[in-house]
Amino acid sequence: MPLRVRVCTVADVAAGELRAFRVHGVTWPVIVTIVDGAFVAVPGVCPHEDVALWEGDLDGGEIVCPGHGWGFDVRTGRCKSAPGLELRRYAITLVGDEIWVDLL
Ligand code: FES
Repeated sequence: MPLRVRVCTVADVAAGELRAFRVHGVTWPVIVTIVDGAFVAVPGVCPHEDVALWEGDLDGGEIVCPGHGWGFDVRTGRCKSAPGLELRRYAITLVGDEIWVDLL
């Protein structure tokens, strides 16, 4: 059974923008955005080092980390600069106008 938490509403999210939402009991906020017309949710921390990803830029479908400038494709989680490194993607469930994500 997944650990599913409510993160935000559909109205809180905008295409092309990184928005981060605090979730009770979770250290780093969850980033939710819209890429290619689909909601995407990822952790708010870079998988390389502990850097706030929401302070980076969203360039097309890539989050560019403010730490070292590496890009993470939110559609796949892949990083071209470090192929072994992957940004986790959370499964999303829409409940009415609420966005819930599976943290585990
Ligand atoms: S801390 Fe994000 S790429 Fe290095």
